Amino acid sequence: MAQTFDVVVIGSGPAGYIAAIRAAQLGLATACVEDWKSPKGDLRLGGTCLNVGCIPSKALLESSENYERVTHKFKAHGITATGVKLDLATLLDRKEKIVAKMTSGIAGLFKKNKVTWLQGRGKLAGSGAEGWQVEVAGAKGTDKVSARHVIVATGSKARHLPDLPVDNVIVCDNEGALSFDSIPERLGVIGAGVIGLELGSVWRRLGSKVKIIEALPAFLGAADEAVAAEAWKIFTKEQGLDIELGIKIKSVKKGRKDVTVEYAAADGSAKKLECDRLIVSIGRVPNTDGLGADAVGLKVDARGFIEVDDHCRSNLPNVWAVGDVVRGPMLAHKGEEEGAMVAEIIAGQKGHVNYDAIPWVIYTAPEIAWVGKTEQQLKAAGVEYRAGRFPFAYNGRALGRDEPEGFVKVLADAKTDRVLGVHVIGGQASELIAEAVMAIEFSASSEDIARICHAHPSMSEVMHEAALAVDKRSWNS
Ligand code: NAI
Repeated sequence: MAQTFDVVVIGSGPAGYIAAIRAAQLGLATACVEDWKSPKGDLRLGGTCLNVGCIPSKALLESSENYERVTHKFKAHGITATGVKLDLATLLDRKEKIVAKMTSGIAGLFKKNKVTWLQGRGKLAGSGAEGWQVEVAGAKGTDKVSARHVIVATGSKARHLPDLPVDNVIVCDNEGALSFDSIPERLGVIGAGVIGLELGSVWRRLGSKVKIIEALPAFLGAADEAVAAEAWKIFTKEQGLDIELGIKIKSVKKGRKDVTVEYAAADGSAKKLECDRLIVSIGRVPNTDGLGADAVGLKVDARGFIEVDDHCRSNLPNVWAVGDVVRGPMLAHKGEEEGAMVAEIIAGQKGHVNYDAIPWVIYTAPEIAWVGKTEQQLKAAGVEYRAGRFPFAYNGRALGRDEPEGFVKVLADAKTDRVLGVHVIGGQASELIAEAVMAIEFSASSEDIARICHAHPSMSEVMHEAALAVDKRSWNS
């Protein structure tokens, strides 16, 4: 007889593995289906985020920043280093070790919480007396299990350009771009979004000459305009990242060792980008291929996302979907919250995700992070607001850390003073934003942040000063 579970989660990325662990913690018999293979061929949990996304990219980020520090920045500290060498194999090996540690960590968590790992590819295969049937196609054949509830957490994959196959050697998506076997002399990037900027910056710091071409005429359109303008100034003018906006790709020709992209520039003139490697980072698409959605009548929208309500319920009873495969930002932490919420609802609790309090982070140097509304969104919605802004350049810790660029901007309702949005560009932005997320979650006012004692000297004082600046009473400007 087929094994029966209370919950079967399909996919073990951040949304799926958190859903599985939370369900098991709540006493539900839980299994998670996953067949991700590492380059060495072993099966791994963790999905894109842990294997070829957030975690390995942050490892590379740190290595490349260290390299840039030693080659360019230490001089100002009176430190000279001679004979500096970069061993790419060691750098990549360190990254792989971090990935292996983190992914095996999830396997450990599954054991500890008694989550069964069903090794194979999961597919919805109908329903019966025991609930939903989930087919698991693994190395040893195909099995079926029964599930009272199914949580689909199959994630997303890189969108590719039509007629341009990605070989992840010369033409790469996020996977290949994390594992170049040599530092490309000329690196081309299509798409100036989060991945293009993060990975473009990594390889620039390691020595590549980077050119990023972007279809949209505006830079970082989702970010607050002041942050986007500051980022543009820092990345292009100060760091020498070559970004061209408003282009239209005409053709991409891949040679044996290089690529040529022909495109129309914003003014219509014909241009050419010749590079040794090309990263295609033009967004991601949800993974629903082979899931059996059609066969069971699971509703998928025109763009391939599984349709769900605010609580991640699909159109089918007891079938839920979380993470990148459903609407909303493709962010690991958004998926984690959805996974936990669904597990808690299944267990009879009141799970909830506050979609207005999800932080965004772009891991460039300096980092960019925000939560809530941008100034342009408030203007468009006719909301009256007050803005307070404070630069890192006036903060002693930022100067000591050699991170004087950027600012924090707090936007608060003009009448109630409730915090509506907080925008950070600067060192440690990914950490600093947590305070703003808490403020928004607790419906705090800018005065609440302004009256909280912030440690001195610390980067967090810039958040404090920006909140004080909403009422035009910052202490240090
Ligand atoms: P993205 O949506 O951030 O950026 C893609 C960019 O490519 C856009 O600016 C778009 O206008 C441009 N583009 C699209 N088609 C184009 C074309 N034919 N020619 C030139 N430009 C074109 O997507 P990205 O960077 O690929 O990242 C995918 C997703 O992964 C994002 O939605 C993000 O949520 C997630 N992610 C988040 C990270 C983070 O939170 N730090 C890190 C990495 C990924």
